[in-house]
Amino acid sequence: MSRPGETGARIIDGRAVAAALRAQVAEGVHHFVAAHGRPPGLATILVGEDAASAVYVAGKQRACAEVGMVAFDHRPPGDTSEAELAGLIGELNDDPAVSGILVQLPLPEGLDGTALTGLVDAAKDVDGLTPVSAGLLALGRKGLRPCTPSGVIELLRSVDAQIAGAEAVVIGRSNLFGKPMAQLLLAENATVTICHSRTRDLPATCARADILIAATGRPRMVEADWVKPGAIVIDVGITRLESGLVGDVDFEAVRERASAITPVPGGVGPMTIACLLRNTLLAAQAQLG
Ligand code: GUN
Repeated sequence: MSRPGETGARIIDGRAVAAALRAQVAEGVHHFVAAHGRPPGLATILVGEDAASAVYVAGKQRACAEVGMVAFDHRPPGDTSEAELAGLIGELNDDPAVSGILVQLPLPEGLDGTALTGLVDAAKDVDGLTPVSAGLLALGRKGLRPCTPSGVIELLRSVDAQIAGAEAVVIGRSNLFGKPMAQLLLAENATVTICHSRTRDLPATCARADILIAATGRPRMVEADWVKPGAIVIDVGITRLESGLVGDVDFEAVRERASAITPVPGGVGPMTIACLLRNTLLAAQAQLG
């Protein structure tokens, strides 16, 4: 896949793929407004002062406005009780102007993110994290899918990856990413392995992968000899070091072995927001039948 005069992997341009998806969503929003006289709306709930979460939520709010959706920005203080937050989620569930609801994670200590996320009406679950959405995904039925794993599928499609029949290895088993990623790959007929902290021989398991997806949060953990020559490598990690932002993959070494690889930043990150916008439009359309 390398071009003449270059060595190593094709760099998967997440910013470009995300921009194309956002443009599609903007067109969909335009049609939605013409048909229904109002735009889809996304409500975000950011509890407390977590600086990284504030940056992510600001990005989501901005992206909404850019595609012509309404963004409702809820920022309750960090000492808000679980009952009060449940009340807010209930109000948003009942508000017809709100098509999608996102509770930004992690929540401050003492608040149960899983329980609160589970209160979101499944029809408005644009994060795809409620038990109903997770169950629909596990059963292979239609539903709203989690954003980051959906973004990874789009990136694989952007390089015409052969997913059906491929050995896909996902490092990480979180509810937010690893589990739904594995389910989406399975739905695409990949042979899927999920690795985690108790996996016995991580390098050897990764080295089987035609598609290797890392979501460990450990900077540059995935080394070149963990990667099968010609594999597609997707890096979901992002850690801020003094030297800058780095992913879970040793990019410079691995790019010499892989056929395609996502950079950090500019790979998976931009896809999460683009898929959130798509989910919000899909939710709005489904709510109006
Ligand atoms: N925190 C980090 N990523 C996400 C995400 O995709 N959704 C939510 N709700 N919180 C997050």
